[in-house]
Amino acid sequence: MIDIEEFGIHEGISEVIFTTISPDGIPNAAPMGLHRKGGRLFARIYNSKTLDNVLSKPTAAANITDDPVLFVQSALSDIEAGRFEYADGVPVLLNASGWVIFECKCKKGENVSVVELSPIKGKINQLKLQPVNRGFNAVIEALIHATRYVVFKEQKYLERIEYYDAIVKKCGGEREKDAMRLLYEQVEK
Ligand SMILES: Cc1cc2nc3c(=O)[nH]c(=O)nc-3n(C[C@H](O)[C@H](O)[C@H](O)COP(=O)(O)O)c2cc1C
Repeated sequence: MIDIEEFGIHEGISEVIFTTISPDGIPNAAPMGLHRKGGRLFARIYNSKTLDNVLSKPTAAANITDDPVLFVQSALSDIEAGRFEYADGVPVLLNASGWVIFECKCKKGENVSVVELSPIKGKINQLKLQPVNRGFNAVIEALIHATRYVVFKEQKYLERIEYYDAIVKKCGGEREKDAMRLLYEQVEK
């Protein structure tokens, strides 16, 4: 029995990277919000590779990481096969601080599906002190707007990205600045 609290998954929405596998065995990674509300654990997943994978094989891992570059890469491009390892056939990220594998029950919707999550296995690779860094948080906010920009191509999302970029420049470290460079490369494609 897994104590989800030990993985830092508290009430509210935790931003993690979901890893899943396609029917032909290709691993996929994408940031997702892991909702914990009133004793329930679930994700709200829009039509995407992650959803297709979970519908065909109903297991997913929530990878816990504070690497802003990994968030950007997994949101806007593909993660190479060599950066995954496998636990009971489920892909997990080699560089994650920890992960939890869930059994998934999907309630398919037209645009968004609700996926109920039951933890079956977890691993903690690394525990570290993590002071709040506004630069890291700003990368995550910018990235959410970037994932919308690549779909809708609306100017307002670029403006929001710029707002958060200023915070990254002020408060972020090299890793956060690298993540923003990568983000801009992907949205300007
Ligand atoms: C921090 C963060 C949280 C996200 N949370 C969700 C989410 O809860 N549900 C969702 O469908 N997409 C979410 N996204 C967007 C997906 O990660 C994005 O659409 C991704 O490209 C999907 O990739 P895939 O097609 O490989 O699954 C989030 C993005 C970020 C940056």
